[in-house]
Amino acid sequence: MSELLTNNGRKIEVLDEEELCERGKDFDVSLGFVRVQPGRYLLRGDYVKMHSNYYNFQFRQDDVLCLSWPKCGQTWTLELLWNMKHNPNLDNPLAKQSPNIRTPFFEFDMITGISNSHSVPEVMEAFERNCPGADPNNGIHTQLLASQKSPRIIKSHIPLSLWPDDLLKGTKVVYVARNPKDAVVSYEHFSRINKVIAFKKDMDTFIDYFVKDDLMYGPYWQHLREAWEARNKENFLLLFYEDMIHDIIGQLKKIDKYIGTNLTDKQLENVANHCSFNSMKGRITFSDNVGKSPEGGFFRKGKVGSWREKLASEQADKIDQWTKEHLSDIPFKYEV
Ligand code: A3P
Repeated sequence: MSELLTNNGRKIEVLDEEELCERGKDFDVSLGFVRVQPGRYLLRGDYVKMHSNYYNFQFRQDDVLCLSWPKCGQTWTLELLWNMKHNPNLDNPLAKQSPNIRTPFFEFDMITGISNSHSVPEVMEAFERNCPGADPNNGIHTQLLASQKSPRIIKSHIPLSLWPDDLLKGTKVVYVARNPKDAVVSYEHFSRINKVIAFKKDMDTFIDYFVKDDLMYGPYWQHLREAWEARNKENFLLLFYEDMIHDIIGQLKKIDKYIGTNLTDKQLENVANHCSFNSMKGRITFSDNVGKSPEGGFFRKGKVGSWREKLASEQADKIDQWTKEHLSDIPFKYEV
């Protein structure tokens, strides 16, 4: 296993052939993986090339960085944030642009592999237009983001501890969390329909990876623990998917106050309706690597408690046990 250090002294361990071969029975491993210590975060191989670039990214005072573990309701949250900032009267023609452009995925180059990061056509088009002469090997998505006007809404799954220590001094962060059982069910589905992850086994196997903290961006408990500990800090807002489902207007009021948009009740209602599950499902498609299964595509159920339909009782028990061990103090809701 080869090792190197990040700018803030974290150790990056590159997974060796043997471990990759084992993992390759269940997932696509062609892009390689690394673990970042401490934390044991599992990230894609190109983190090695990109970590310095990520660490040194110039955030702006009026950015909103939306963080989450995969499948916790981040796309919804990003869409809410973007429309609150840019489209509260639902009259902005840019609202038709892909979320890949409006709310760029910060580390997407790492996810697809730098050599494949041109694979999202609308992003490549915008990159060529906005960043003439820029070298795609330095990150298409981060360079495109750097060329964008303020206020920017940025998507990332990178855990808090891998950003500079002073991140929250200059950047507003919104973190969205979800109960582990629904998050696992959603992540399992997504891992099957996403060509870059390409999970090929069954729910039992996926849950084994989850409880061993060995899914990409895992461990979830560590990711969320870092956010939970930051929950009372300035420039940090922790949301739960279940609360958003239960009372979207209540949560929008909280976000409105936090990001300083001062929207009217009518504008909040506009945003809530425009970003409802059915509305987003009808108007948003992701061209990049995401397919469909009989169960659905990117927009699957959009509910709290769909784990009941998907998990056998031993599977649910396994996740509950993991939750008890690691996150017993977090007030998750499993139905609303
Ligand atoms: P399900 O698979 O349970 O349906 P992320 O955006 O972080 O990848 O999370 C995806 C999950 O959020 C999926 O959950 C998806 O259906 C759900 N989702 C997406 N948009 C939503 C919306 N507008 N309202 C409620 N849930 C939404």
